[in-house]
Amino acid sequence: MATWKTLCRVEDIPKLGARRVRRAEGGDIAVFRTAEDRVFALLDRCPHQGGPLSQGIVFGDSVACPLHNWTIGLKDGCARAPDAGCVQRFSVKVEDGAVALDLDEVHAGVRAAA
Ligand code: FES
Repeated sequence: MATWKTLCRVEDIPKLGARRVRRAEGGDIAVFRTAEDRVFALLDRCPHQGGPLSQGIVFGDSVACPLHNWTIGLKDGCARAPDAGCVQRFSVKVEDGAVALDLDEVHAGVRAAA
């Protein structure tokens, strides 16, 4: 069962941008907000060369990596063809405007990286 930890309010995330959640290990997490106020979370590391996806521009259900402009799907964390590769996704819950991450997933990433 998920252990949800409230991170912030939806409005605390820049529209068409992201908020970065720092982790001691395993890489930071980028929490994105779409134009329709949907929220997604991915590892803040582009599958191409590790660019900071949290600094990219969100459009539709995707983010454009700021380094070489690959398009990464926010729902699946995967690069759009002809590019290839995926980045880790994290579960997000939005309830009454509060954004929460599953702590078990957040810490699983740390354990996997350790
Ligand atoms: S590092 Fe993201 S497109 Fe190159």
